[in-house]
Amino acid sequence: MTRRTVLRGVAAMTSMASVSARRGRIAMAHDKSGSPSTDRCDIQLPKPSLKGKLTLEEAIARRRSVREFADHPLSLEEVGQLLWATEGITGHASYLRAHPSAGGLHPLEVYVLDADGVFHYEPEKHRLRPVREGDLRGDLAKAAHRQWFITDAVCVIAITAVYARTTGKYGDRGRMRYVPMDAAHAAQNVLLQAVALGLGAVPVGAFDDEAVRAVLGVSANEVPLYLIPVGKGRG
Ligand SMILES: Cc1cc2nc3c(=O)[nH]c(=O)nc-3n(C[C@H](O)[C@H](O)[C@H](O)COP(=O)(O)O)c2cc1C
Repeated sequence: MTRRTVLRGVAAMTSMASVSARRGRIAMAHDKSGSPSTDRCDIQLPKPSLKGKLTLEEAIARRRSVREFADHPLSLEEVGQLLWATEGITGHASYLRAHPSAGGLHPLEVYVLDADGVFHYEPEKHRLRPVREGDLRGDLAKAAHRQWFITDAVCVIAITAVYARTTGKYGDRGRMRYVPMDAAHAAQNVLLQAVALGLGAVPVGAFDDEAVRAVLGVSANEVPLYLIPVGKGRG
């Protein structure tokens, strides 16, 4: 059976594999709902929810690394919620986000890969911008030293860092401590948000940086720090 992907699932377009067709459908759905008009190249994510079914304590207690995923799509709401928890803006200025960041400098960039391609998350607009087309989860698994369970995740959230944003102010301390600390805060948010949504996830840190960079299609000034495969846990 073909794996139904995040965005295909949302748009109920199981037979339409093309990213541009899918984007058009989602953009039309937004237009109909009366939301502000969107650039048709981008995918506007639904407003994040500030209420969940679990308490924070329950989410912490239930969190476990999940590496076996069911063939079950995620909704656009769920994807948006996960990305908001990673890097979403939660304050009156763009540096006030879901995770703390040394100096409010926010060196992290966030991507999501699914069977249709790679998308860059834009926190200011809470939307996705397509970066690459095609199912690259196999390439990502290979880049992660053949951790094949990555191919079974419905989507993978990738966190990269532009170190210069932080080292410009903090130098070596920024490189050795603050940037990885920022990434860990963001990753923990995703993991707990996944639990709160009834999903499973695992933080993956073992991979070849250059190979992951190539899969994501990012430039040399972005360092991949974490891959977080997400899906409905099996069993
Ligand atoms: C920095 C870091 C890197 C990790 N890298 C991987 C990885 O590459 N592959 C993997 O399957 N799990 C990875 N894990 C998950 C750990 O194996 C897992 O957290 C640990 O076994 C404890 O299990 P738990 O998460 O269920 O509590 C990583 C965890 C951390 C914190």
